[in-house]
Amino acid sequence: MDNLNQTESNIFDKLKSIKDRSSLEIVKTEIFGKKGILTEFFKKIGNLDQDQKKEYASKLNILKKKASEEIEKKFAEFDQEEINKKLINEKIDITLPGRTFFSGKIHPVSQVIDEVTSIFSEIGFAVEEGPDVESEYYNFSALNTPDNHPARDMHDTFYLEHSKELLLRTHTSPVQIRTMLNSKPPFKIIAPGRTYRCDSDQTHSPMFHQLEGLHIDKNINMGHLKGCLYYFVKKFFEVDKVKIRFRPSHFPFTEPSAEVDIGYKIENGKIKIGEGDKWLEILGCGMVHPSVLKNTNVNPKYYQGYAFGVGIDRLAMLKYGINDLRAFFESDIRWLEFYGFDPLDVPTNYRGLSR
Ligand code: PHE
Repeated sequence: MDNLNQTESNIFDKLKSIKDRSSLEIVKTEIFGKKGILTEFFKKIGNLDQDQKKEYASKLNILKKKASEEIEKKFAEFDQEEINKKLINEKIDITLPGRTFFSGKIHPVSQVIDEVTSIFSEIGFAVEEGPDVESEYYNFSALNTPDNHPARDMHDTFYLEHSKELLLRTHTSPVQIRTMLNSKPPFKIIAPGRTYRCDSDQTHSPMFHQLEGLHIDKNINMGHLKGCLYYFVKKFFEVDKVKIRFRPSHFPFTEPSAEVDIGYKIENGKIKIGEGDKWLEILGCGMVHPSVLKNTNVNPKYYQGYAFGVGIDRLAMLKYGINDLRAFFESDIRWLEFYGFDPLDVPTNYRGLSR
């Protein structure tokens, strides 16, 4: 019996000194295992006298209960400690600011190309493209522009070094030639793209953008040209009424030729398209010259049509109130942040002038 008291204090001393879970496992086996301290005591019960048996067994059971409770308590403590440690180490600091990211912007020129493409596609124009480096033939000769024409002058045209034949296209009109040579009439296309001229001031940059239009079929006349341009200007500037003026002009590749002005006024420092008595030139156009049709194997006896060329940058400046063309191509990120468009915005024809 004394033995049992001694054992009890041994067990509890041992348990007190335990610092971690795995030592606790070991001590648990030392007490309750097959050859454990208490197990040994239980084995002895059988050898005792009847009267001693009861008391001994009951004491032993109490000790067993106390010891196992203490062990379970310790296990629970270690588990809690473990959880606390995890909570500290894996804490998420929700007061930290999120990581910033920058999304790019769509350049106004790209935006306007998307808008005009969308407007013309709705009325059946397909989109064509041509190279920036053109041959003199496509850029001038095939377009009925004679050798001595002033537009060919070195002051206007960027010729490639050591070449009289290759140049940076001065307009998108060579795409007319490429398109007509490549397939058969009818043709109904637009061609947006970069163009180049030796010119630089607030409203001219050596590289700029044009949109070419070409519609050739059996009965296309100047009325169609006017209708198309009215439609386009109304859609693009999002106005119901427009004032358009066709001024007689000259281009070697059209006959008759016209320059088109749109009416506008300035109201509260902002430009208003479609009203007022001021005029602004936006494009050149005309009926495609028979010589151009001949040069592209289209028979002018059966086919005729119109062509036009619009300055895209000019359109962007007017619609979005940007007054210096040079800023378009300076790649100033602050400028783009201000004038650019959100990439996930679907371009529409109906965006509104005062966005
Ligand atoms: N290519 C001419 C220019 O750049 C514009 C134009 C295109 C005129 C088509 C008539 C027909 O000025």
